[in-house]
Amino acid sequence: MALKSSNIQNKKIIIAVTGSIAAYKIATLTRLFVKAGAEVQILMTPTATTFISPLTLATLSKKKVLTEIISEENWNNHVELGLWADVMLVAPATATTLAKMAQGLCDTIVTAVYLSARCPIFFAPAMDLDMWHHPATQRNIKMLLQDGCQLIPVGTGELASGLVGDGRMAEPEEIFSVIDNFFTAKQDLIGKKILVTAGPTYEALDPVRFIGNRSSGKMGYAIAEALANRGAEVILVSGPTKISVTHKNINLMRVESAQEMYDAALENFETCNAAVLAAAVADYRPAHISDTKIKKSGDNLTLELEKTPDIAKSLGERKTTAQIIVGFALETDLEIEHATAKRRKKNFDFIVLNSLRDIGAGFNHDTNKVSFIFADDSVKNFELKSKMEVANDIVNEIVVLTSLRF
Ligand code: PMT
Repeated sequence: MALKSSNIQNKKIIIAVTGSIAAYKIATLTRLFVKAGAEVQILMTPTATTFISPLTLATLSKKKVLTEIISEENWNNHVELGLWADVMLVAPATATTLAKMAQGLCDTIVTAVYLSARCPIFFAPAMDLDMWHHPATQRNIKMLLQDGCQLIPVGTGELASGLVGDGRMAEPEEIFSVIDNFFTAKQDLIGKKILVTAGPTYEALDPVRFIGNRSSGKMGYAIAEALANRGAEVILVSGPTKISVTHKNINLMRVESAQEMYDAALENFETCNAAVLAAAVADYRPAHISDTKIKKSGDNLTLELEKTPDIAKSLGERKTTAQIIVGFALETDLEIEHATAKRRKKNFDFIVLNSLRDIGAGFNHDTNKVSFIFADDSVKNFELKSKMEVANDIVNEIVVLTSLRF
């Protein structure tokens, strides 16, 4: 990852490492911070030291690693460090440490510094799928968010246990980018209201079944967060997803069907400066919804489908010269051709193309590989990046366009 013009230079960063296999990733993260010019102080819980050695992290951070709450030289290090840091990052944050932080327990150097810290706190959880989804863990995370801590969301994929699902700690490059953005603190979208659509739509067949798609909402939620970080007020109209929203600038409206998404989007668009349409909206829905569960009968079942309203097209028709619309195109073939046609048809200012032929792009991945296609048909290609980084690229482009319009 290129470390161009980092905002991290000379910043004092505490990385508090707790006992998870993901601790090995902290070596890379420490290098990224140090290379960008930060002063890094590593803290480790006793369990963390069984996953990666303090010597490794001391060598990379060029500073003695602290592992004890009380040392012979100094018993009140935790208070000094809590005042010294510009930011404290707990990564990987285990279920145990999150629980202690939420409850204010103070039995390791990590929790002691956490309680003394006056700086902003970020935490990047890492744990097994079921631990992550456990109501107790989710409750603790909610409490930490209420206390003002900022969550760096977990990724989905293969876990150390062999299970596949949510719980992977964010990659070092992604964590670096979150902290870098935090220090950038560009608030160039203050006073702007932006509509974002995200996730899939579910089109009911009967009270039990629906027609849906594989969108997780990750791309749209990352865009909402990136916009909110820059000061925009965001209306996030989301189809069914498992993602929760933590940013105070994001007003989440949950919907289920294309019709509900259409109604919510149209109701809000007029007062918005821009819209980013990342949702994967069903193009067709069942023409009739059965009031009761459709019973199995015969070898075949023919469904009659009818068109859903095209949200993007309707917004494109209503767009004023002061408004901006960014659309998405998910393609599987003739990508540029199809996306260019969609941009024109729906009157988008630019369209973000992602192709299912690219590994790591599209549905559910934590990464995406996109191209922007502009009104003059010019194309800007990007490498594979985390969805948060893609979101920041989109927001940067919106800021350029908005500076010409608003
Ligand atoms: O949610 P993730 O798992 O992170 O995956 C992200 C994503 C793949 C869903 C996202 O990156 C993406 O490509 N979203 C658009 C997918 C899509 O359905 O594209 P489309 O080519 O069918 O639609 C074109 C555009 O029109 C899109 O901006 C879409 O939001 C919009 N549209 C489509 C149909 C409709 N009835 N209303 C719409 O607004």
